[in-house]
Amino acid sequence: MMRVLLTAGPTYEPLDPVRFLGNRSTGKMGYALAEAFAATGASVTLISGPTALAAPANLLITTLRVETAQQMYEAAAAAAPLADIWVFAAAVADYRPATVAAEKIKKAGDTLTLTLVKNVDIAATLGQTKRAEQFAVGFALETTNELAHAQDKLHRKNFDLVVLNSLRDAGAGFGHDTNKVTVLDRAGEVRSFELQAKTELARTLVALILTHFTAIYA
Ligand code: CTP
Repeated sequence: MMRVLLTAGPTYEPLDPVRFLGNRSTGKMGYALAEAFAATGASVTLISGPTALAAPANLLITTLRVETAQQMYEAAAAAAPLADIWVFAAAVADYRPATVAAEKIKKAGDTLTLTLVKNVDIAATLGQTKRAEQFAVGFALETTNELAHAQDKLHRKNFDLVVLNSLRDAGAGFGHDTNKVTVLDRAGEVRSFELQAKTELARTLVALILTHFTAIYA
């Protein structure tokens, strides 16, 4: 049975007991991918940041909920050696507050400066441990030189495929039910897809991933 590791959703990086730094990721694309993989008979470990979505009611999908990038990394690192395919769909915070206040931070002064420190890059760190028979898929969201940056990310993080989200199209990306993507592979091939429902796009991407996976490692 094919085993898939999937990260999805945002991460929340706490500042104090009531506040966090987060982002607008809803997890919809990642959850749709989990369902689409399960529909092919694959077993999926879905490592999800905080989202409003219910855990998929599918016996093939194990959902692990985490909050921070560090927790997501630890859960992913535990599942990665056992998985055939890794898909990094999460919008992981690149930085976290350097310290987490034990008590709620009180208002003082007209400005407040936060010091942030770098989080672990989950995809890049696991990418260094990827075995020849494993396959990794990353996501990229770029605003300038999209293809060049995505291609660079593919090599830097040891991805086999990278899914580039378009920000230029209305209805694509964060918060929407639709998405428009371009997929790049290691051979330099570029495939663009029309704007479509995330559920439909998930099925298309899973078919593409499985085709690449079997072509390379079968
Ligand atoms: N990613 C990750 N861990 C991080 C940051 C990113 O696993 N700490 C993964 C994402 O899930 C995605 C890919 O890396 O699959 C690219 O994410 P992106 O935010 O575009 O990349 P960054 O490394 O943050 O690149 P930059 O900020 O330089 O654009």
